[in-house]
Amino acid sequence: MRAAWGGGFLLTIAQITDLHVTTEKDPLNQRRNEERLRQVMQAIHHLRPRPVAIIASGDLVDRGEREEYVELKRLMAESEIPIFYAMGNHDSREGFLAEFSGPGAQTDENGFVQYAVDFGDMRMVVCDTLDGPNDGEYDEARAAWLARTLDQAPDRPTAVILHHPPIPSGIQWMDPDPNSPWLGRLEQVLTGRKQVKVLMCGHIHRAFNGVFAGHVVSAAPATSIQLTLDLTEVDMHVPDGREILVEEPPGYALLMSDGPNLTTHMCLAGDYAPAVTYNFPFRKLA
Ligand SMILES: [Fe+2]
Repeated sequence: MRAAWGGGFLLTIAQITDLHVTTEKDPLNQRRNEERLRQVMQAIHHLRPRPVAIIASGDLVDRGEREEYVELKRLMAESEIPIFYAMGNHDSREGFLAEFSGPGAQTDENGFVQYAVDFGDMRMVVCDTLDGPNDGEYDEARAAWLARTLDQAPDRPTAVILHHPPIPSGIQWMDPDPNSPWLGRLEQVLTGRKQVKVLMCGHIHRAFNGVFAGHVVSAAPATSIQLTLDLTEVDMHVPDGREILVEEPPGYALLMSDGPNLTTHMCLAGDYAPAVTYNFPFRKLA
């Protein structure tokens, strides 16, 4: 669906991330994560204009088990909006591909879940950074695919989807090793490819922004529980009892395409009462 706006055309895509759908083996997270995912899906379905697609940017399930993907499929079958998927470090390509196929689950020539989709004037390029258990990976083969794919449409405003943000959030126990070779490979591919307007990420379970290879990095909050905002030093080998996850509201991002621009909104799901309504004409204040 497209809506006229400001003389151009507006098109939106919702990003959900870190769903961590699971089964009755983990009843607390099954109940909690499904309930929060439902809240987000409901909020997205109420958006006007309705997004043309939803990108689920990894950690679709919690343990990479096939039964979890069966559960995910059951939940996502309720969506009236087409869903596209990316892999996260909690995912399993094998488990995912056993249950999902079609436009939202395409693989490259090496079997990675990587593909490009065009929507109106824009392009979405979904990358597979799955390595596990926590760090990302982007090897030579995947990087070559990305370079080739981006070069197919050098003038089309493009959003690149990566589960792992390639920059630190400051939440140290989740951040990438700055010397990881995959970051260099990704930087090499993305540098100078000016059609890339935004890198949309997940993984950190918290919204934050930064810059990588000259591009905006936009990380979305999780549909499941969020990471506690704690930027103090942590010893990865000495648990100190700190809070690391928190039941802040579930969230999502909304990518807006308006001709040459791609803009991201960070959104909370939930029922909030209107504070003010539009009862008088807007006017320019003197
Ligand atoms: Fe996650």
